[in-house]
Amino acid sequence: ALERTLSIIKPDAVAKNVIGEIYSRFEKAGLKVVASKMKHLSKQEAEGFYAVHRERPFFAALVEFMISGPVMIQALQGENAVLKHRDLMGATNPKDAAPGTIRADFADSIDANAVHGSDSLENAAIEIAYFFPATDVYPR
Ligand code: CMP
Repeated sequence: ALERTLSIIKPDAVAKNVIGEIYSRFEKAGLKVVASKMKHLSKQEAEGFYAVHRERPFFAALVEFMISGPVMIQALQGENAVLKHRDLMGATNPKDAAPGTIRADFADSIDANAVHGSDSLENAAIEIAYFFPATDVYPR
């Protein structure tokens, strides 16, 4: 089915200057960018985005990392976009990420892991709405 998912290129990958390389992987896989913006998140924005992880031991470090520099945020659209995007990213921990995936190629650790992607269609809708008003998403 035609889906949308939320993608974030995290501060480590933005600092490595690989935004274009990562966008290229999305495009080659048939995912279209339908919204995008660069943003240096506030602590409150990062905490709100990752609210489901609030009780996890890594929460504070995750938030600190996510506000350590600007991120590139995009909504992607395509057939089976949620799973396709997760396949392109690879496992959360780059040590477990398959060769050729974004995290295998660009991530340094489970914290600095280059990219975020929605884990379900339901969360994708919530995460896209968190960053983009409906009028800033362009169906194509
Ligand atoms: P992300 O997909 O952005 O969702 C939450 C993030 O928390 C995850 O990527 C990792 O970067 C980070 N994280 C740190 N430690 C863990 C862990 N033990 N399990 C899952 N995520 C972790």
